[in-house]
Amino acid sequence: MSNRTFAIIKPDAVKNGNTGKVYDRIIQNNFKIISAKLLQMDMPKAEGFYAVHKERPFFKELTSFMTSGPCMVLALEKENAVQAWREAIGATNPKEAIEGTIRKEFATSIQENAVHGSDSDENAEKEIAFFFTKSEILTN
Ligand code: CMP
Repeated sequence: MSNRTFAIIKPDAVKNGNTGKVYDRIIQNNFKIISAKLLQMDMPKAEGFYAVHKERPFFKELTSFMTSGPCMVLALEKENAVQAWREAIGATNPKEAIEGTIRKEFATSIQENAVHGSDSDENAEKEIAFFFTKSEILTN
């Protein structure tokens, strides 16, 4: 079981001034931030990151949204990190997210859903490597 996951504070949350509030949640949930950067994805980067969704009807809308402004990408560490972060963020659709989750509080729609979390250990490692070099990750 990997102890690392990948998170994005998405353009809606950054734009709405919620970056610090999501950081508070990360800290309250006892994750260690082992890397973080603020960036704006260009279209090839967003299309590459979401390649798994390229046949979905919402792909174009999703990549437009994800390139629409800055986002914060993070590598997080905690025991059983993938599951722990998914529990903290809540369901993809904020209408289905339970009270107390990050998406319940900050997401405005299924697309503009404030944060991303990896769905498996394998994808967490791939997603971290997609945004960070090895030397950008804290190891102690
Ligand atoms: P996330 O799980 O972080 O990564 C895939 C994203 O696609 C998801 O968050 C949503 O932002 C978006 N998404 C998933 N389903 C839909 C949908 N039905 N309509 C629009 N966007 C969606």
